Amino acid sequence: MSDFSNIEIQDLDEQQALSELKRLAEEIARHDKLYFQKDDPEISDSDYDALRQRNLAIEGKFPDLVLDASPSKRVGAAPVDGFEKAAHAVPMLSLGNAFSREDVEDFSSRVRRFLSLDDDAPLPIVAEPKIDGLSISLTYSNGEFVRAATRGDGRVGEDVTHNIMTIAEIPKQIAGNVPELFDIRGEVYMGHDDFVALNEQNEKTGQKTFANPRNAAAGSLRQLDPSITAKRPLKFFAYSLGDAQVLGVKHHSDVLAQFDAWGFPVNPLTKVCRSVDELMEHYEHIALNRSDLGYDIDGVVYKVDDLALQERLGFVSRAPRWAVAHKFEAEKAVTQLEAIEIQVGRTGALTPVAKLTPVTVGGVVVSNASLHNEDEIARKDVRVGDYVVVQRAGDVIPQIVEVLLDKRAEKSEPFILPDVCPACGSPAERAVDPDTNRQDVVRRCTGGFICPAQAVERLKHFVSRNAFDIEGMGEKQIELFYGLEWVKTPVDIFSLEARDGDRLTSLKNMDGWGEKSVSKLWDAINERRTIGLDRFIYALGIRHVGATTASDLARFYGEAERWLQAMVDAGDEENSAFDDLKNIDGIGGVVARSLTHYFNEKRNLEQVQALFEVVTVEPVEFEEVASSVSNQTVVFTGKLELMSRAEAKAQAERLGAKVAGSVSAKTNIVVAGPGAGSKLKKAEELGVKVLTEQEWLDLID
Ligand code: IVH
Repeated sequence: MSDFSNIEIQDLDEQQALSELKRLAEEIARHDKLYFQKDDPEISDSDYDALRQRNLAIEGKFPDLVLDASPSKRVGAAPVDGFEKAAHAVPMLSLGNAFSREDVEDFSSRVRRFLSLDDDAPLPIVAEPKIDGLSISLTYSNGEFVRAATRGDGRVGEDVTHNIMTIAEIPKQIAGNVPELFDIRGEVYMGHDDFVALNEQNEKTGQKTFANPRNAAAGSLRQLDPSITAKRPLKFFAYSLGDAQVLGVKHHSDVLAQFDAWGFPVNPLTKVCRSVDELMEHYEHIALNRSDLGYDIDGVVYKVDDLALQERLGFVSRAPRWAVAHKFEAEKAVTQLEAIEIQVGRTGALTPVAKLTPVTVGGVVVSNASLHNEDEIARKDVRVGDYVVVQRAGDVIPQIVEVLLDKRAEKSEPFILPDVCPACGSPAERAVDPDTNRQDVVRRCTGGFICPAQAVERLKHFVSRNAFDIEGMGEKQIELFYGLEWVKTPVDIFSLEARDGDRLTSLKNMDGWGEKSVSKLWDAINERRTIGLDRFIYALGIRHVGATTASDLARFYGEAERWLQAMVDAGDEENSAFDDLKNIDGIGGVVARSLTHYFNEKRNLEQVQALFEVVTVEPVEFEEVASSVSNQTVVFTGKLELMSRAEAKAQAERLGAKVAGSVSAKTNIVVAGPGAGSKLKKAEELGVKVLTEQEWLDLID
C-alpha cells in the first residue's frame, strides 16, 4: 500500500483518500489492541488522538468512502473505553486440580466423607473434557439471549455480548419451557484448523500471530470491533448453569441433555461414571483421542451428577467441592539452565528462580522455572550450565524435574544460596522452630522494612487481583512508582493523584503515559476506595493469611474497626481476644501469632490505620440465610452421626453462625455427639447450651 500519510487532507484525491482510510483503520485497530488488551501502548495518547482526528476529517471530506470497519463507527466512539463491566448473578468459579489416580480417589473419598456416604454407596459422577478456551456466561431472558460476560475476577467480567452475537453455534433464542431468567455457562474456543488458517492469514497481512488457539480465541473475543470477531471462527461448548437448580431437573446430565435439546453444542465425550475405575477408564479414552479432536483440551472435569448433592457439598474458597479437573500429564522439554536468580518475596523469602534458554513447552515459550528452595536445589543437584528437563502443567509455574547428568560440564559447581539478602544486604536466615527444633526450608531476609524488594512485593500483592485489584496498576507500574519514590507504602497509592498535580514531572508527561491513561488510572484507584473487609485483610500480605483465612476473619469480626481492635488486643496472649482469634475454626496458633506479630510492629498498625482514613472498609456480605442461629458461636464436638463435621460447619456458616474450635464463655451452643469429652465438660461448667446433633438439626430446620 502506498503511503499518503504526509499529504494534507485538502490535497488528497479520492483514490488516495480511500487508501489512507484503510491504513488508518488498520493502524488505529492495532493501537487499540496494544492499549486495551496488552496495556502496552506504542504511541502517546496525543499521537493516537491525531490518528483518529485525521480519520474523521478525511471521512468528513469523503463521506462516500467511510469503511464498514471504520474506527469512527465503533461503539463508544473516540476515545473508545474498552468493555462495559458485567456483574455475574452467580459467581463464576474455578476448579481444584487432580493429577493422578490417587488424587481422583482422594476427590471421591472427600465427597463421600463430606456427605457421610459409605464407600460402596452409589455416587454417579459425570466426566467431560476440559476445554482449553475461555469461560463465558450467557444470560437468557424469556428465552432470548441478552448478555454475554467473560469470567473476569469471577464476580465481575466484561460485557462481550456483541462479540458473542457473532458466534453462529450459540442459539440466540430458545423455545419451550424456559426459565424466565438464567445463565448458561461454557467455553469459547478455536479449533486447530481455524487457528492455523488465522495465523497464516495474519502472517500474510503482517499482523500479530498467536502462540496457541486459546490466545487466539481470547484475542478474538476481546476485539472492540465485533465485525472483526465475526470473521474469527469461534466455537462453543455449554457445560453448566449459573444456578444449577433453575431447570428443576435432578442431575447435571439432565442439564446437559436440555442444553442439547435447545441446540447448544454439548461435548460428545461426556459420560456418567459410577466408580473411580470408570472415571479413569474414560479419562484414558479421552486422552487417547485427544490429538484427533481438532481442538485443545487440557484435562477431564469430574462433576457429582446429583444436583441436590452438589448443593449440599457447596464451595470451598473459590472452587466447588463437587467437581475437580483431572489434568493431563504435563508437557516436557529439555533446555539449558543459564543462571539462578534470587527473588525476594513480600515476607522476605529468598526464592531461587531458574533462568533458562527459552524453549517451547506445549505451545508456550518458557524461560523461567521455579526451583523452590535450597534443599530442593541440593536434592536435585541443579547447577548453572546444566541441561534440564522442564515441565509445565496447566497454568502453574514451570518446574525443573530432572538434570541430565551425562550432559553436565566437567567444571560445574554446586549452587549455594547466599546468606545475605541480594536486595538489601541484611542477613538471610533459616528460622528454627523452637518446638520441633527443625529448620525452616525457606531462607528469609531479616531486613523487614528496610528491604526494598520486600516493600515492592508487598505493594504488588496489595494491588493484585484478589486484593485491591486496581486496574492498570500492575507489577510494572508498582516498580515504576516505587523507583520514583512516589509510592513507598500502600497508603501512598491513594494520594498519588493529589500529589501528581504539583509535580513538574507529572505522570502524564512520562514515557508511555498520556492524559487518557493517567486519568484511567486515577479512576481505577478511586473505584477501589471502598472495599470488603476480606479483600482488605488479604491485601495486607500478612504471612499465613491467604484468601480463605482473610475471609474467615472478615466473617468472624464483621466490622473493620472491631477486627483491628481485636488484633491489637490479641497481642497480649493473656487477653481473651487471643483465645477468640486462635479458636476461629481454621485459624489456630500459628496464624494467630502471625497476625499478632504483624500488628505488634508499630509501622504495620500505623499503615492499617492510615488506610482506614482513605478507604472505606465494608463488612462482607456472605450469602447467609437469616436464621435462628445467625451470629451465634457454635462448637461441634464428639462424633457426628448424621453428617460430616465439614458439612455441619459449612451449613452452620451458611446460616450465619460462627463455628469455633473450642469452648469459651463466648460460645452460645455446643453440639455434642457420642464420645464428647473435655469440650462438653467445659460447656457444662460454663452453663453453655448443649444440644444433640438431632436437636441442632431441628433448631436450624
Ligand atoms: S465447570 C463451578 N466444565 O475450566 C464449575 N469448566 O478451571 C465451573 N472449563 O473456568 C467450571 N471445560 O473455563 C467446567 N467441562 C467443563 C470445562 C470447564 C473447561 C474451564 C472453565 C473454568 C475452568 C476451571
